[in-house]
This record gives sequence, structure tokens and C-alpha cells, in this order.
Amino acid sequence: MKRVLIVCLGNICRSPMAQGVMEHYIKTHNLSNQLSCDSAGTGSWHVGELADFRTRTVLQNQGIRLDHRARTLFSSDFDKFDLILTMDRWIHQEVLKRSPKSAHDKIRLYRDFDPQGSGDLEDPYYGTQQDFEEVYQVCLRTTPQIVKYLVN
Ligand code: 4NP
Repeated sequence: MKRVLIVCLGNICRSPMAQGVMEHYIKTHNLSNQLSCDSAGTGSWHVGELADFRTRTVLQNQGIRLDHRARTLFSSDFDKFDLILTMDRWIHQEVLKRSPKSAHDKIRLYRDFDPQGSGDLEDPYYGTQQDFEEVYQVCLRTTPQIVKYLVN
């Protein structure tokens, strides 16, 4: 079983979107016995909350239900997960700072796996529903590449 953790700042917008898309992909491709996905935030403001309404709206329109509640990144995550994906360079530096050197090789930028781009998946929190749709589109094309990398 491979485990992937996706990390953003609040764990209510970007990383739950990526988790929802990834979990849906796992289900529809019968990969539940090979791959699992979780998400977390480096910040704790929203701990215990459901994903942002705009993230849940985008997912619901795709028939994806997400029950995830926001949580912070735990030190035990660096042992538990095979791949830790960060949503932007700032989060990336923060996650590296909190992690043991031995885990650094498995911490990567999420968009390293985006076939159409790279760099930051920008925070849509102060944006519009359209910004959340664009986050979804990035997740949609990036998810299969992550799965390909982890499962063979
Ligand atoms: P996320 O977006 O990191 O994609 O979940 C944010 C959500 C909340 C805040 C910042 C970013 N916040 O400052 O509360």
C-alpha cells in the first residue's frame, strides 16, 4: 500500500480538492488496495472544519463527496507517508523545515507532476468560484501522473 499526503496552508481549499480528486480516481480505477490519500495544512486556523464551500461545490458538481476535516501536519506523517506533496514553494519550505532530513526525498511540489505546468498552485482562498474551478482542472490532469508514479 502506497500512501500520499497533500499539504497546503489551511487544508480547506487546495489540498482537500486534490484529495477529493485523488480518492475518486482511486475508487473508479479499483486501486483502493494499492493507494490511499490524505491531506493536511501547515496552519491550524481551520482544524476540524469541512473543506471550503467552494471546494465542496466544485467536487459535488463532479459527483465527488468529501468528508475530510481539516487537520495540521503531524511529525508522524513523515514516517507514515510515501510521498508528501506541497501546493506551493512557501509551503514546501515550511514542510522541509519541519521534517527530518531522512524524509526530504519524498517531499515534492504537487505541480512537479502537472503535465501542463509547474511551480505554485496558488491559494484561491481570497479568489472566486472560478479560481476553485481552475484548481480542480490542475488536480484533474495531475492526479493520474501521481498515481502512475506510485503504482506500477
Ligand atoms: P488552502 O487555502 O491553503 O488552499 O486551504 C487557505 C485557506 C485558509 C487560509 C489560507 C489559505 N487562511 O488564511 O485562513
